[in-house]
Amino acid sequence: MKGIILAAGVGTRLYPTTISICKPLQSIYDKPMIYYPLSILMQANIKDILIITSPQDQEMFQRQLKDGRDLGISISYALQETPRGSAEALLIGSEFIGNDACTIIYGDNIFYGENFDDILKSAMKNTEQGFATNIGIYVENPNRYGILELDNEKKVISVEEKPEYPKSNFAITGLYFFPAGVTEKAKKVTPSKRGELEMTSVVEFYLNDGKLKAESLNQSFAWFDAGTFDSKLEAEIFIRDIQKKTNTLIGSPEKIAYEKGWIDYQTLEKLATKMSKNTYGEFLMNIEKKEN
Ligand code: DAU
Repeated sequence: MKGIILAAGVGTRLYPTTISICKPLQSIYDKPMIYYPLSILMQANIKDILIITSPQDQEMFQRQLKDGRDLGISISYALQETPRGSAEALLIGSEFIGNDACTIIYGDNIFYGENFDDILKSAMKNTEQGFATNIGIYVENPNRYGILELDNEKKVISVEEKPEYPKSNFAITGLYFFPAGVTEKAKKVTPSKRGELEMTSVVEFYLNDGKLKAESLNQSFAWFDAGTFDSKLEAEIFIRDIQKKTNTLIGSPEKIAYEKGWIDYQTLEKLATKMSKNTYGEFLMNIEKKEN
């Protein structure tokens, strides 16, 4: 399974803050926003990751995350020259994906909640059986999202991008699981009404083939696409409060790498030392050494 983080958006909704520093490299409380989606891919056991950036931002991502070796993973980079739409990620990444299944996550999506591991496992398993999976959640403002309509048996019966008259409040989050062969489907996508190659169009191909599933995040689950001033601030306050309450780090690639056994304790300590002057480093240093 390959993983792609799409981080090439212009971020105009956050202007002027994104003029020099793009959205996924801005901080959500104590770490860059991109650490959260990166951690989700790692949580799903994905170690081969491509980060798609704009030409002007690529160097900054590379400075931040390097080639992933420090985390026991592989990170490579690709460019999207102009933001032609999210589905273009599958075309830009087609060589990287090869004949594998692929998980795509947007660089501004933050997830936190119970049973997420089970949801990730189930979505990964679906790809082995040739199914794509959307991770959906109930939202109050369905016009802003891709919307799924489910029947009584929770089977997806329609999908629509930012509908004027939404058929449900069940929104697609920015985390997509596709089986092998997805790049062939992506090649067939044509620009939408807003002129973009939409990921929702790729999803629709799977729906039409009877190969689309939806996993549902429950009401206590927190999901943010930190793309507006308010949702970014809300996400920061949420992360700070939950971290303090649970005395843990959310969205820490170093922590996950150690928990998964991809780096040893010495490497974790070395990474933590760089941040020894703050609570991020303190959290990492307080992780107990595993036996064996
Ligand atoms: O956040 C969930 C929603 O994300 C879904 O419900 C929608 O179905 C999906 O289309 C998407 O809607 P948005 O309008 O909120 O996202 P947008 O298409 O602007 O960008 C998604 C992410 O991908 C964002 O982090 C910026 C990045 N991006 C976007 C485009 C269009 C790129 O890197 N390149 C692009 O060309």
